[in-house]
Amino acid sequence: MNAAVVRSFRDPPAYEPFDTPVPTTSDEMLIDVVAAGLHPRTRSSANGTHYTSTGQLPMIPGFDGIGRDRDGQLRYFILPDTPFGSMAEQVVIDSRRSVVLPADTDVPAVAAAMNPAMASWIALRQRIAFEPGQRVLVLGATGNAGQMAVQIAKHLGAGHVIAVGRNPERLAALTGLGADITISLAGDSDLTDRALGEAAAEVDVVIDYLWGPATERSMPAVLGHRADKSQPLTWIEIGSQSGLQVTLPSAWLRAARLQLVGSGQGSVSPRDMISELPALAAEISTGTYAIDAVSTSLSEVQETWNAPIAPGQRIVFVP
Ligand SMILES: NC(=O)c1ccc[n+]([C@@H]2O[C@H](COP(=O)([O-])OP(=O)(O)OC[C@H]3O[C@@H](n4cnc5c(N)ncnc54)[C@H](OP(=O)(O)O)[C@@H]3O)[C@@H](O)[C@H]2O)c1
Repeated sequence: MNAAVVRSFRDPPAYEPFDTPVPTTSDEMLIDVVAAGLHPRTRSSANGTHYTSTGQLPMIPGFDGIGRDRDGQLRYFILPDTPFGSMAEQVVIDSRRSVVLPADTDVPAVAAAMNPAMASWIALRQRIAFEPGQRVLVLGATGNAGQMAVQIAKHLGAGHVIAVGRNPERLAALTGLGADITISLAGDSDLTDRALGEAAAEVDVVIDYLWGPATERSMPAVLGHRADKSQPLTWIEIGSQSGLQVTLPSAWLRAARLQLVGSGQGSVSPRDMISELPALAAEISTGTYAIDAVSTSLSEVQETWNAPIAPGQRIVFVP
């Protein structure tokens, strides 16, 4: 088969022949890949920096995708940690980590959006006791996952959604997608921190895609303006676009009723994660959420990997 093959963590994958993987257990099956999204996690696995990376080379990137099984059914799958990923003509999946999709599924949309959408969908439905009417702040709302979080929070019944991010055009567009207020992280920092604190005085949930310096700056701004310091605030860490670490002064945990949780691979069981997927795939496929999927032939993976893309677009490789 042909695949996108990483032979050095410094270089993009190249399209080349590779041994077809072989199922080794009765739960595994070899399927034909139909589409695989190029997500931030796929890039960080391919450059060796993702927290699940083992350093093994050569490897084929891609941890999710859509394929066609031997019965002709479409399946969305999430792979376990493996060096033989979905950016290939064929992949071995564990059937227990896959869901059968209807034949009329919008394949590029689901391949593009499941990962960024899953982040907030699973966080709100599996990691916390989210209740309709609660107020949600999305930190890093201008990325694909953040844009999905704004829409999903509203769809799941959020009473008020505050979108916080950098890119001004993307931020402005979020108003049309469900954000009640947008706050730019790009301007004067004192004004931004005050606006953030005032807007978030009664927020119940923060969905954080940034971490690092952006969270170090936003968390005290939010905590410092709490209208009622004893009102529970759940801060869900999902991504680390701004940085991998934060310094967390002990006072932040004492000064307000702050609960810090994470959501991602490991903090939600594969079974719970998979159970959420059919409903989410159906929402994506029927056009509930705005998605900008760009289908590209897998044979162009090397030149496409680092090529600039418009904000909000998600590349979907088609073998
Ligand atoms: N835990 C999970 O289940 C899960 C699932 C999906 C994604 N994620 C994580 O969530 C994060 C976002 O994923 P994505 O798919 O949305 O990525 P994406 O589409 O590439 O968007 C990333 C966005 O991050 C913003 N950004 C980068 N550095 C920033 C900084 N220093 N300050 C403020 N904004 C910054 C950029 O916003 P501007 O355009 O405004 O500059 C960019 O649009 C990634 O870390 C990803 O790994 C986690």
